[in-house]
Amino acid sequence: MTTTTSHSLADNDLFANGAPWEVFEDLRRHDPVSWQEEPAPNHGFWAVTRYVDILEVLRDTETYSSEVGATALEELDSSQIEIRKSMLDSDGERHRALRKLLQHDFTPRALAVYETFLRGLTANTLDAALSMKEFDFVAEVAADFPIRVLAKLLDVPDQDIPQLIKWGNRMVGNTDPEHADVLLDSDESEKYKDLPFRSPAALEVFDYGFSLANARKGGDGTDIVSRLVNQTPIDGKPLDDRDFRNYFLLLIIAGNETTRHTISHTMNNLINNPDAIALLRAQPELIPWAVEEFLRYASPVYHMRRTATRNTKLGGREIKAGDKVVCWFASGNRDEEVFVEPHRFDVTRKPNEHMTFGRGGPHLCLGNSLARLEIQIMFEDLLTRPVDLHHNGTIDYLRSNFIHGIKRFPVKQA
Ligand code: HEM
Repeated sequence: MTTTTSHSLADNDLFANGAPWEVFEDLRRHDPVSWQEEPAPNHGFWAVTRYVDILEVLRDTETYSSEVGATALEELDSSQIEIRKSMLDSDGERHRALRKLLQHDFTPRALAVYETFLRGLTANTLDAALSMKEFDFVAEVAADFPIRVLAKLLDVPDQDIPQLIKWGNRMVGNTDPEHADVLLDSDESEKYKDLPFRSPAALEVFDYGFSLANARKGGDGTDIVSRLVNQTPIDGKPLDDRDFRNYFLLLIIAGNETTRHTISHTMNNLINNPDAIALLRAQPELIPWAVEEFLRYASPVYHMRRTATRNTKLGGREIKAGDKVVCWFASGNRDEEVFVEPHRFDVTRKPNEHMTFGRGGPHLCLGNSLARLEIQIMFEDLLTRPVDLHHNGTIDYLRSNFIHGIKRFPVKQA
């Protein structure tokens, strides 16, 4: 393999045709904690690409803080940091308190009550899609399904679902000209610098969230919005408007985009691996475990960021206090030191300690059990049907170095 370390992970074009697996491999081999230049006004970041180094960063929250932004690579000033702060961008006690508010709702036990609903929803989604000979797997299957589950948890009407999908696309697609109304690196985005993803769509999400909150304040609803507005976190500090709107927006994004893309990637990976389809059809009891490989291989969140609180060393490099340290989960998931034949889609892989949801740190994805359940139920249903899906044109990927997303995935039935 040629050395590709000159490629910049800050460049969204590098991700326009899917994940740059060769670049990640090259970085792991030759420059595993690599300094990446960025265009001004940003100052560059460390790209951490080996599994073991990523684990070190996620676990050591004293040295690597989330407080100054965990999703944005952009450097935020102190007022932006405050305005945009969510649970994901908090450390310590406040983080624990915010997380604890909804932690119970996302345990496998609490989610078990949704299983019948999920199976019905999956069956309806697949019945409708498979009634067509040719269709776009994203539009007809993947995009709708996770957001419908979220709509149930938030207790919002089905008619709002298309709007929720559009908001997610506009925010997460802020580096893709097809989805963004204001591109992240455009001068115009300066007007929206206080909003998550610098996206005007965030304002609409806030308005929507507040209208739900106002209607449910003081009520006895058990949905997530009612709980957020009526419960006090364990640190005794109620959610203020900023806390609520950023929590709400985080759920809309996190509960929607990531699972959707995992489902699309998995369908693609299965079509490319007919042996895996045959095995899972013959032994459907393997599917719950196979979900771990679906997740490892999809890696829908490319990275999360931390910021060094002090001078330190990582992978032999000198990190300075204030440096951005970016954990590339997608690269860690293909680390040959941890996964045998990492580029093989092996649905029986064991162990499979992937870092798709983060790993080992306090921010481990809150919705991981829900995502696992949704993906499991989707493929348990799909794989028991006598259908044979094939590619029907090229897959279009999201131009984003944050989310490994699929925009369009044309399929046809044999
Ligand atoms: C395949 C689907 C999903 C993937 C790949 C994913 C991935 C992630 C990742 C990588 C993190 C950050 C981990 C870290 O920085 O250490 C995270 C955090 C989070 N996720 Fe997910 N996620 C998924 C689905 C969901 C769902 C369905 C929900 C909820 C409805 C959700 C809610 C959250 C929340 C609230 C956080 C912040 C947790 C915290 O800061 O403590 N996610 N997720």
